[in-house]
Amino acid sequence: MGGILLQAFLKNNLLSPDQIVATVQHPERALALSAQFGVEVLTDNLAAAQYADIILIGVKPIQVPALIELIKPALTGDKLVLSFAASVKTRSIEDAAGPIALSEEKGLAVIRAMPNTPAMLAAGITALCPGRFVSEAQMAIAQRIFQTVGRTVVVDEKHMDAVTGLSGSGPAFLYIIIEALAEAGVNVGLPRDVATLLAAQTTYGSARMVLETGYHPALLKDAVTTPAGCTVDGILELEEGGLRVTLIKAVKRATQRAKELAAG
Ligand SMILES: NC(=O)c1ccc[n+]([C@@H]2O[C@H](COP(=O)([O-])OP(=O)(O)OC[C@H]3O[C@@H](n4cnc5c(N)ncnc54)[C@H](OP(=O)(O)O)[C@@H]3O)[C@@H](O)[C@H]2O)c1
Repeated sequence: MGGILLQAFLKNNLLSPDQIVATVQHPERALALSAQFGVEVLTDNLAAAQYADIILIGVKPIQVPALIELIKPALTGDKLVLSFAASVKTRSIEDAAGPIALSEEKGLAVIRAMPNTPAMLAAGITALCPGRFVSEAQMAIAQRIFQTVGRTVVVDEKHMDAVTGLSGSGPAFLYIIIEALAEAGVNVGLPRDVATLLAAQTTYGSARMVLETGYHPALLKDAVTTPAGCTVDGILELEEGGLRVTLIKAVKRATQRAKELAAG
């Protein structure tokens, strides 16, 4: 996800290469990425955090506390920390930053984000929520950053695990649906490439219909469903197979797991 964001920043001229310092864990990857993107890539997180005004954190949730501990000396009151690690609460980063970050009445500015992988095509959606010490101007910066990879929405932090279960994990659920539709097309005699194109473009077009007409999905579904036609027979099979309930359960399970990730 960090790589996707880095490429989007460069492509959109949000920042010039000399304004970015990235870090990874493995030195050989740092070298390769630096050559690939023309930006400085280090393995020294503290040095990068000292250099930056805005610090994006995208390691695995379980790694976040140790990382914050490491970069703590760089977390002064003028920095903005933007974490897109699933499950990790703004409060836990604020608290981990400790008194070094805190002036008398103001703590470290931490914004939590949950992007998703369609960000790679600037078709992602990122939910953002502010921590306790974030200004409107800092939220605007975060929105500007994540708008390079798609849409943004601001939510209360209590909804972030649900966002993770829905739009964070959602692309995987939808790929399975697209794969199954394509498999179905093959089953009824279509060549696989045609079946995959039909399934994917139909999913894309249907999503655009929901977004651009603003109509309730049920109304759009009704418009496809001719009385005594073929679609309604298909819908009957979907309901019997429990697609709707299965998707609801999938999002609920993913949301539940998202609550646990920060604890390992
Ligand atoms: N994948 C998604 O769809 C998605 C969506 C939203 C949020 N997220 C969140 O994004 C975070 C990363 O997920 P991912 O899928 O991008 O994982 P990933 O592909 O495994 O990437 C993790 C990156 O972190 C680097 N790294 C690990 N430890 C480090 C350290 N101590 N210092 C500096 N860099 C370090 C790794 O470096 P090396 O390359 O050297 O190993 C790697 O480049 C997670 O918290 C996840 O919850 C992911």
